[in-house]
Amino acid sequence: MSDEKHFYLSTPIYYVNDVPHIGHAYTTLACDVLARYKRARGYEVSFLTGTDEHGQKVEKAAQAKGETPLELADRVVKRFQSLWDKLNISNTDFIRTSQERHKLAVQEIFRNIEAKGDIYLGEYEDWYCTPCETFWTETNLLDGNCPDCGRPTDKLKEESYFFRMSKYQEQLLAHIEANPDFIQPKSRRNEILSFIREGLRDLSISRTTFSWGIPVPGNDKHVIYVWFDALTNYISALGYPNDNDGEFSKFWPCDVHVIGKDILRFHTVYWPTFLMAAGIPLPEKVFAHGWWTVEGQKMSKSLANVVEPNMLIDKYGVDAIRYFLLREVPFGLDGDFSHTALVHRINSDLANDLGNLVSRSTAMLNKYFEGELTSPGETTDIDKVLQDKFTKQVKVIDGHMEALAFNKALQSIWELVGAANKYIDDSAPWTLAKEDAQRERLGSVMYNLLEAVRMIGLLVTPFMPETGANIGKILGVDPADQLLEDHDSWGLLKPGTIIEKATPLFPRIETE
Ligand code: MSP
Repeated sequence: MSDEKHFYLSTPIYYVNDVPHIGHAYTTLACDVLARYKRARGYEVSFLTGTDEHGQKVEKAAQAKGETPLELADRVVKRFQSLWDKLNISNTDFIRTSQERHKLAVQEIFRNIEAKGDIYLGEYEDWYCTPCETFWTETNLLDGNCPDCGRPTDKLKEESYFFRMSKYQEQLLAHIEANPDFIQPKSRRNEILSFIREGLRDLSISRTTFSWGIPVPGNDKHVIYVWFDALTNYISALGYPNDNDGEFSKFWPCDVHVIGKDILRFHTVYWPTFLMAAGIPLPEKVFAHGWWTVEGQKMSKSLANVVEPNMLIDKYGVDAIRYFLLREVPFGLDGDFSHTALVHRINSDLANDLGNLVSRSTAMLNKYFEGELTSPGETTDIDKVLQDKFTKQVKVIDGHMEALAFNKALQSIWELVGAANKYIDDSAPWTLAKEDAQRERLGSVMYNLLEAVRMIGLLVTPFMPETGANIGKILGVDPADQLLEDHDSWGLLKPGTIIEKATPLFPRIETE
């Protein structure tokens, strides 16, 4: 980590030729959970997202709609921003590559690398896939088509500026070898290592065949290649080449760029070599997650199976969607979205396990003590088991969060939910309530239960901020004021607190 109490993380910036779908929401959501967790651990967090607005793909999409590229971008950017609001995304900045601050940074890094002699003018002749904005050599092509998306490619010959990427091959290999965590997960790291070992070519970083982009400084016949432009967003947002009141020096190098597996090479080969050439330190980590299919099929407009996040949130609630996306699939692997799996998770994990725990605990406290928490008495063996489990598990969860293993973190939190539900069964409050002599013991059981609920509420907050806030409200503690860092030890609920009977947190979804 670059600095102990600062944390900088980024999503990819999204192309504006498409409207947001569940895949985009996934990357942004994962970053949001990590950002919230880090804040809860006392870090000052810079969390960047934004839109990638230049390039031929966007220019063509705008033409097809009879708009200027900027009109298209202005329209689509609102779709992204309103979805992020609706998903409760807590980004601290939103960068658009059409902004002046970005243009300045891109031209500056270009100039900087050129001044060092690592950019030169040459001629390009290769096969270009416009949908992927990627050049391929003849041998890369599959039956003449793009090896990534399978669509036709065009032969392009043009004057172009080149970046001496080949020069950085050994330095990049050495960096990846010396920093085993730089590329995650491990399988992705191996993929990139073998790609680099096959040899890096110099990279064409300008185009002359269209104009929607940032002009090359001193030669505006050329616009800068969209990936050179887009990757720079991670530093332009911090004010590069200036320090923006200390932001650049505070937050760079970035702690983690979270991306999808399809854009790994750009982030772990192109971006680090650009930075090396410019003399800027490399990000600490690049984490590539997997891809979602939908009901077993690739998501695509032609199959009309694109999952629209707004509709899902309206139907199931924002926290249920946030929970499902991060619980269902290990971060880093591919996964499948299905309505059956979603409804199953909501009913079993949320309504049944968590929702019932909160309803039962608060209902019993009201039934037996009119809602007033009493001081816990002597600690029995089963109390000790519960407390130890919570204390240990907080550390386990922290380890999972550090590793971006969101599904494991949730699994571990749900083990606590399970332990608390089991504690109810084992301590059988309904039996204790029958005997006056057990009154103090009953009070202790209630205290422990609600303390378990409090800790679970804090732990779920980064994943489900509304649910965390609801649980806090029920217990009379404001999670916004309760940093996990200072409140993750057992026994912090105050005896004497009045806790009302909770309404169900998650209604069950009826299925046929
Ligand atoms: N503009 C580039 C990124 C530039 S970053 C300097 C881009 N944009 S994108 O809009 O096409 O994709 C953005 C992200 O969405 C990628 O990380 C991609 O992996 C992710 N996803 C797009 N479809 C997805 C799924 N079906 N499943 C999971 N994530 C997917 O690439």
